[in-house]
Amino acid sequence: MIKIGIIGAGRIAQVHARSVSAHSNATLSVVSDPVEQAASALARANGARWTLSADDLIADPEVDAVIICSPTPFHAEQVLACAKAGKPVLCEKPIAMDMDTVDQLEKDLEGLNPTVMMGFNRRFDPSFAKIHSLANEGAAGKIEQVTIISRDPAAPPVEYIATSGGIFKDMTIHDFDTARFFLGDIKTVVAIGQNLDPALKDTGDFDGAVITLTNAEGATATITNSRHCASGYDQRLEVFGDRATLNADNIRPTTVRISNGTVTDGQDPYLDFFLARYEAAYSVELDEFLSAIDEGRKPSPSIEDGRKALELAEAAEKSARTGSIVTL
Ligand SMILES: NC(=O)c1ccc[n+]([C@@H]2O[C@H](COP(=O)([O-])OP(=O)(O)OC[C@H]3O[C@@H](n4cnc5c(N)ncnc54)[C@H](O)[C@@H]3O)[C@@H](O)[C@H]2O)c1
Repeated sequence: MIKIGIIGAGRIAQVHARSVSAHSNATLSVVSDPVEQAASALARANGARWTLSADDLIADPEVDAVIICSPTPFHAEQVLACAKAGKPVLCEKPIAMDMDTVDQLEKDLEGLNPTVMMGFNRRFDPSFAKIHSLANEGAAGKIEQVTIISRDPAAPPVEYIATSGGIFKDMTIHDFDTARFFLGDIKTVVAIGQNLDPALKDTGDFDGAVITLTNAEGATATITNSRHCASGYDQRLEVFGDRATLNADNIRPTTVRISNGTVTDGQDPYLDFFLARYEAAYSVELDEFLSAIDEGRKPSPSIEDGRKALELAEAAEKSARTGSIVTL
């Protein structure tokens, strides 16, 4: 049984705590959060202890491995502290707010042989993972175009956007990783940012974006993002190859359809936002983390995958601000 500590007790911590509690090879030992009410509520709901200090959690002998769910600016220092303590760590995305911090982290990690997994949960979504394994088996032939649609149901509060690092680091980061999952390393980035939502006009951030990435072979990934979507959490993937097209559509709670005088083939709304839509993915992600620990191997996606996704986010920001094609 692997004893887990969770750092940060907010939205994403809830889903990780549920996955840990439901897992046959893991138990939630300790939760840390500087806000005692958050730490104690999550700990109590899962039969765990709590502390206000991430350092105390990392040093706790009853913690074998750590899941970092704190705000992004704390990720690098907490990954390093886990590595120094010799504890495997699953770190939420993004790895950091900027590349300088990642460079420093990688320097600091040298010689520590750390076990670090990045929380790019979409790789583990059953539909996306099936497309990936079909593509690997050659079902699509040579991949020419990947199309990723990712729209949130509603924009977050303006205060959230101010500290989010911007749409590319906060939201598109998942899609950059998905693009790399299928196409490998990316050579060029072109991004168009949109400012269409009057409520977000003063944030200085984009509320929508279309990004096209190209790899060395000329295959492309096109990502379409929006902070809002009238039809709900819109998550679709298409991989187009010279032998087949592979599609993953939105998921609904049931397959029931209604047809009447005003609508035909009406269906349930899409699963509501990331906690519900990707619940299975978070659970398979945890499986990969725990299996890697048990088998003494490095888990995937790695810290290098975290670095490359962040690099793409910075390139997209530059492209959208300057109107240029950014070559990596
Ligand atoms: N993989 C995904 O689908 C996904 C989804 C949402 C968020 N995230 C990522 O997870 C991280 C947390 O996001 P969230 O939405 O859960 O945020 P949140 O604001 O809901 O929760 C963050 C929690 O961390 C606590 N905290 C603040 N400083 C801390 C510190 N130094 N150490 C420990 N805890 C601290 C806060 O009190 C809060 O309870 C972010 O990096 C975000 O990008 C990933």
